[in-house]
Amino acid sequence: MEKQKVEQIIAKHKSEPSALIAILQDVQEEYRYLPEEAMAIVVDRLNIPLSRAYSLATFFTAFSLKPRGRHSIKVCMGTACHVRGSGMILEKIERDLNVKRGETTDDLKFSLDEVYCLGCCGLAPVVTIDEDLYGQVTLVKMPKILQKYS
Ligand code: FES
Repeated sequence: MEKQKVEQIIAKHKSEPSALIAILQDVQEEYRYLPEEAMAIVVDRLNIPLSRAYSLATFFTAFSLKPRGRHSIKVCMGTACHVRGSGMILEKIERDLNVKRGETTDDLKFSLDEVYCLGCCGLAPVVTIDEDLYGQVTLVKMPKILQKYS
């Protein structure tokens, strides 16, 4: 982790304690998670308690305190997707990538999460990878989709 990058982010927000969320968002965008060292620098420069930064980081699901994969896979487990077999798709991804839901592969290539309704139930079952959305996903299609990101 480059300390200088974190310092630049803090400076961009003028070391304002009220910009804590925005600063954490920028740090997360830079590193795909909130490294402990970065959190320590942020609270020091903003002169706020570490507990405040951690409670924000754990409250918002967009933040992660653990390293995240380069690609983020989300499998919809909402009702419409679930009845169309998204549970089996999620299990297949877990097996194929050797990763559990909520975790990241050892090579930091993929993070896998379940979500509840992506608002496009007509396309169920739905999987997203980063900004890409895949509808009517099947067990056969899934490995081919994953290959694009390998
Ligand atoms: S339930 Fe999956 S998109 Fe709505």
